[in-house]
Amino acid sequence: NSFEPCDFVLFGTKGDLARRKLLPSLYELEKANLMHADSKIIGVARNEISDSDYVAMVKENIEKFTKEALCEESWARFSAKLAYACVDMKDSKSYSALKTHAKAGRLMVCYFATPPSIFGDICRGLKTANLIHKNMRVVLEKPIGHDLASSKVINDQVAEYFDETQIYRIDHYLGKETVLNLIALRFANSIFATNWDHNCIDHVQISVAESVGIEGRWGYFDEAGQMRDMVQNHLLQILTLIAMEPPANLDADSIRDEKLKVLKSLRPINSSNIRQNTVRGQYVGGFVKGKEVPGYLDEPDANVSSKTETFVAIKVELDNWRWAGVPFYLRTGKRLPGKTSEVVIFFKRQPHNLFKDSFPLLPANKLTIRLQPDEGVEVTVMNKVPGLTGTGSMDLQKSRLNLSFSDTFKGERIADAYEKLLLEVMLGNQALFVRRDEVEAAWKWVDGILAAWRSSNEPPEPYQAGTWGPTESIALMARENRSWYESR
Ligand code: BG6
Repeated sequence: NSFEPCDFVLFGTKGDLARRKLLPSLYELEKANLMHADSKIIGVARNEISDSDYVAMVKENIEKFTKEALCEESWARFSAKLAYACVDMKDSKSYSALKTHAKAGRLMVCYFATPPSIFGDICRGLKTANLIHKNMRVVLEKPIGHDLASSKVINDQVAEYFDETQIYRIDHYLGKETVLNLIALRFANSIFATNWDHNCIDHVQISVAESVGIEGRWGYFDEAGQMRDMVQNHLLQILTLIAMEPPANLDADSIRDEKLKVLKSLRPINSSNIRQNTVRGQYVGGFVKGKEVPGYLDEPDANVSSKTETFVAIKVELDNWRWAGVPFYLRTGKRLPGKTSEVVIFFKRQPHNLFKDSFPLLPANKLTIRLQPDEGVEVTVMNKVPGLTGTGSMDLQKSRLNLSFSDTFKGERIADAYEKLLLEVMLGNQALFVRRDEVEAAWKWVDGILAAWRSSNEPPEPYQAGTWGPTESIALMARENRSWYESR
């Protein structure tokens, strides 16, 4: 894989994702000298605007959504790459506007930052304008459909024009440094690699908590709910990286083959076991970080009878050799106390306690991987408290081996996930993108849960904004003599 100049065509350039994430990330790549000098970025939307107005709009976004002040030198290089094409994405005839920009035969990356319902229209338009060629990659944003059947329709539409090696399905969690670090941690450290199974691990917790609510996206979110918005993609992808077998190498398909096997091992959840294994919640008004916030049903544009979940907790079991009997507990929600994503691996207790006198119940070791914020890795260990004690007894204390990324990699900027992923697309590496069979296996499992919830017809459990979700979520763990880990 090497750098080659490319035409980066950004469909939906005026949308939220493009403005907040994609354009600022491309600019950061430019700043880091990771854009080829001859590359072009062509924004596509429906409105008639001049190139210079487009450049002004992009500048405004970058100033708003990047942390540091604009670097004039980088901006000068970046803005020289920008162009705009006015295309009605549903009208195939209008794609000819792109022809003046795309140089024949050179690498073209088309990013579909649009609703998936028009992915097919975009492909058709590109075809009509005779713009499709072999040296082309398309990037698809989530959600790919709202269930297995609709995801197949979208994937089929795109597959009519592009083959799987040209399709990059984004799950931005796969671009996060700490999520990628799961692979390094597991496979570059024998201390973990050799202790990573049902013999040593009691259970795993994956929490992705957000303090934000719906952020003006009520229409989209109410159709999706937390299960489709977060679990089907982000949480399951984290789970696959924790649970997968060692891949043969780091090639895209070696990794994705192993992730697929995990998704295929997910034990189905259906009407017969939905109550024991899942909790769905919906927030009511409360206080988050000291600020009063409305309930889900009181948000602007809300349909007051909505039963959509804003919180999900699930006990996941994997029917495979490595993880037999080791539950993975997933938890994710909006309007929780803070934005924290963590994976916690609970190791098994020692078979025999030599330290009963000072510690009747010896705590198990825990490995905490802080995905965000305050990124880092922490292991709890039992330690002798220094000091003189008689008759061979020992005082023990639980201590932490804490690797904080900000201390260890001082001065190192943690790149946004989209920077990493856009770079990988331009380099042609599919390892951090989700293959079609993965998306489908994930939907198949999620569909079972959604169907069981639908047929039970029970409303979600209310929880107060600013808390860790409904009490039923605590009960899900308590039933098995476990509890959710709350680090901060
Ligand atoms: C998106 C979801 O995919 O991920 C949002 O649609 C969610 O609802 C977001 O807020 C969380 O991403 P991050 O990177 O802020 O954890």
